[in-house]
Amino acid sequence: MDWVEDAKRRAAVEAVNSEVKDGLIIGLGSGSTVKYAIEEIGRRIRGAELRVLSVPSSYQSLLLAVKCGIPTTTLHEHPTVDLTIDGADQIDPNLNLIKGMGGALTREKILAASSRKLIIVADERKLVDHLGGGQPLPIEILPFAEPFVTAKIREMGGKPCLREIRAGAPYITDNGNFILDAGFGIIENPKKLNEELKMIPGVVETGLFVGMVQSAYIGMRTSVKKLVCNKLKST
Ligand code: A5P
Repeated sequence: MDWVEDAKRRAAVEAVNSEVKDGLIIGLGSGSTVKYAIEEIGRRIRGAELRVLSVPSSYQSLLLAVKCGIPTTTLHEHPTVDLTIDGADQIDPNLNLIKGMGGALTREKILAASSRKLIIVADERKLVDHLGGGQPLPIEILPFAEPFVTAKIREMGGKPCLREIRAGAPYITDNGNFILDAGFGIIENPKKLNEELKMIPGVVETGLFVGMVQSAYIGMRTSVKKLVCNKLKST
């Protein structure tokens, strides 16, 4: 295992062991780092150390939760989630995020907004000074609206590109929608950009998560650091 996989696993295990308590309703994000958190929750359930219910954010996480023996529920049964653990593609010093390279951004944002606490798990490569540099912003859109939204984003100065699974075959989200990966360069004001994009008819959700995160467990090369309210604390 190279250091990145090890860092992701350490961050996820530390987050689960610090944050997940008996009886909670847990939102499960998606991606290769959250995978380690789901596996750790499953391990503790099988060891009879923990009882929780989970709300997965994607079919990927649902299937893994079931495989790991984690009981699942829905927002219909539990509209308020105690704690969501999720990954991120970029994390700025204010704990604002770009998410969605795994395509699950809409359900992830709904879960985040339904949660009392949003905890991020990631390796140190995800820390940036400003969102957007070298990283497109994933935007989920209605397929019908793709030409219109593409033109609107170009007018705003963005460079949208339809995500494909292979040439000519669009990637389809768990919600049956398309994703545009839009380059904006450095995003000076993530809140404003998120609001502007959400005003475009046909935009379902953006991968900008602004002011939603309580803390982030960051897997460094040899340690895990907990980032809270702009302060980096060793754990
Ligand atoms: C899924 O849509 C994303 O938001 C993921 O949370 C994000 O891409 C992080 O994934 P990794 O942990 O695999 O980098």
